[in-house]
Formats: sequence, structure tokens, C-alpha cells
Amino acid sequence: MRLRNIPESHDYFMNSPYAAAEPEGLRGRWREFFARDRRKLEAEFGCGKGRFITELAAADPGTDYIGIDKYTSVIYKGLRRLEGCPFRENLRFACLYASTLTEVFAEGELDRIYLNFSDPWPKKRHADRRLTSGRYLAMYEQILRPGGTIEFKTDNRELFDFSLEELAANGWTVLAKTFDLHAYYAERGLAAAGIADCADAESRAGAGDLSGPDESEERMLIRVRIMTEYEEKFSGKGKPICKLIASKL
Ligand SMILES: C[S@@+](CC[C@H](N)C(=O)[O-])C[C@H]1O[C@@H](n2cnc3c(N)ncnc32)[C@H](O)[C@@H]1O
Repeated sequence: MRLRNIPESHDYFMNSPYAAAEPEGLRGRWREFFARDRRKLEAEFGCGKGRFITELAAADPGTDYIGIDKYTSVIYKGLRRLEGCPFRENLRFACLYASTLTEVFAEGELDRIYLNFSDPWPKKRHADRRLTSGRYLAMYEQILRPGGTIEFKTDNRELFDFSLEELAANGWTVLAKTFDLHAYYAERGLAAAGIADCADAESRAGAGDLSGPDESEERMLIRVRIMTEYEEKFSGKGKPICKLIASKL
């Protein structure tokens, strides 16, 4: 992703009420940090400007959400968009590299991980930088509760196939998958939720009720219909979007 550095983004981020400014200090204490006895804690790694996690938090106030990205310059853009909106107490952002996740989350602390349009790192020698490589799957296994899930979306078929192989090789179970998410919605008469103002995100986001262990494959795939920034761009160009949901059962 090409990125313009925004010099003021660091200070802006650190002073934002949405910032988890020192995430390492919250290891094992995230639920306490949100100061509410939440049923669930979910995070997106590589959230970019954060539209997905922001709309999800608006659609589902009963769960706490953390958007994580390695650059404040991208998180900043999402935070600017939240100016003037009512404060969402179930949403925070943290700026860190996914390689440090186990320093930031304790064993079993997360219920669900979202990976949306993760950088593909196309060169073979960079394969272990892909967020669905065995190296990262081992970390997710530690920080997810038993039965917790990964939800992964991408337009990159090579990365998707690689991810399916890595999941299988590392003993994960793919609970649901599609190679064309938007065709899947269309067949069922559903629309992906598009860009939304914070004001009416609840009514259009479509996160709906939250999954249980016996949720059907179909329900799993359609449970969250919120589009990310990249998803809107690529699906707008007619590229099929792949999605999978996996768990280490
Ligand atoms: C292609 S963008 C996708 C953004 C957003 N998820 C979407 O779908 O619109 C990938 C994002 O992941 C972030 N990222 C890439 N590698 C990362 C890592 N190792 N740790 C944290 N963030 C990372 C990048 O900074 C970038 O914002």
C-alpha cells in the first residue's frame, strides 16, 4: 500500500479518545480497559482507515472492537472521519506491527480476528510476512480463545489459495468459504453494506446477531456484510472477493 506520511498523525492518534496508546500494557486487561463486562472482544489486524471495524462497532454495541494497523497515518484518516460523531465506547485503535501481537494480547483473549485485504507479499521469499502464513497462524492460535475464529477476505486469489493451504498445513478447520462473496450475496438477494456515515451505520451495516458454535456455514458467510475500503474498490472493478472463516478446533 502506497502511503503518504502525515506528520501530525502520531500526536493526533495519541490524543484521540479512540487510541489504545500503550497496547503492551493492556495485555490480559483489554476487557478491563473497555471497562465493561463484554461478552466478546474482536480485532482487525491491518485495519487501514478502519471503516470496517468502525461500522462493525456501530452495528454491534454489545461487542468490543479493536482496529490495529502499523501506521498512524492510515488510522488517522479513520479517526478524522469520526470527528463530530457520538463516541463509540466499544471501539479502539492500536498502532503496532502484527508480529508483536502476542506481546499485546494474552492467551485466549480474543474471540475473533478479522484480516481484510492483507498485503499479499507476492514474492515467495516474503511468504512468512503474509498475515495468513503459518508464523502468524501460530500467534492467532495463542491469542484466540478455544474455538475462536479468523475471518479473512481478499481479492487476491493467490493469497487466498496460499491461506487455505497454510490453514490446512497448520491444523485449522475452514468452517466456511466462498470464492465470490458478492455473487454469493446476490444469489441470496443480499447487498453488501456500503459506505456509511456514523449516523446510520447501525441500520445498514448488517452485522446482526453474533455467531455461536453451531452457526450454519451460510449464516457465517453472510453475518458480516460490511465492505472495507479495499473491498469497495476492488469489487467496484468487478474483481471477485474471496472469504473464509477458520477455527483451530
Ligand atoms: C491493503 S491495506 C487493507 C486495509 C483495510 N483492511 C481494507 O480492507 O480496506 C493493508 C493494511 O494492513 C496494514 N498492515 C500491513 N502489514 C501489517 C502488519 N504486519 N501489522 C499491522 N498492520 C499491517 C497496512 O498498513 C495497511 O493499512
